[in-house]
Amino acid sequence: MKNKIIVALDFNSSSRAVEFVDNLDPKLCRLKIGKELFTAAGPNLVETMIKKEFDVFLDLKFHDIPNTVANAVRVAVDLGVWMLNVHISGGSTMMKSAKDAILSHGDCKPILIGVTVLTSISNAELSEIGIDNDLRDQVVKLAKLAHQSGLDGVVCSAEEAKLLRNCMPADFILVTPGIRREQDATGDQKRVITPSQAIRNGSDYLVVGRPITQASSPSAALAAINSEIASV
Ligand code: C5P
Repeated sequence: MKNKIIVALDFNSSSRAVEFVDNLDPKLCRLKIGKELFTAAGPNLVETMIKKEFDVFLDLKFHDIPNTVANAVRVAVDLGVWMLNVHISGGSTMMKSAKDAILSHGDCKPILIGVTVLTSISNAELSEIGIDNDLRDQVVKLAKLAHQSGLDGVVCSAEEAKLLRNCMPADFILVTPGIRREQDATGDQKRVITPSQAIRNGSDYLVVGRPITQASSPSAALAAINSEIASV
């Protein structure tokens, strides 16, 4: 299988992102473009990265009425993204509309994944928005709903990956952020996990930002992570 590392391009301008990516090899990683960079640089940058032969995960977490989400998904399919996501809490009709838009539109069929509960949300905050389920139960419930609605997988913490790997089909894709090697600074991430442990927990793809983007040699940091997971 091609590379499991997705480098999070958390930059605020197109030029910084392009300059950074010039040091990376598309055979050794994929890229994630999220709300900050997309707001700054727009679809042109997505196309630039795809032209450079990178697989792009467009992390815009769509959450809107089904018609609007389906239309946004069609535009993303036209851009040629490799993966994109929606909030599962948008509901089954919204998710099915997103999946149908992928299946019926264009030649590129990106992987569609869902966001269960944001990892920044606590049990107390879940209750504030009217959900009295335990957080872990809510994550499992939403992952199952995503699967029933045709999604290919979910973004989840490494802890949740372990839980979901035991109750979801083997081909259900788990994408995990919060990755740090032993020597990396944790930054604002509260719960972090090493690349090898994330793979052992059942993650299929690891989203890695600052350990690579802030490294003195990003390509060396990427090589070290790839070598760590190659031995799992
Ligand atoms: O720099 P770092 O490795 O912490 O970056 C992780 C990336 O994954 C960021 O783009 C962040 O927004 C994203 N992310 C996350 N936790 C989630 C979902 C996405 O850290 N639950």
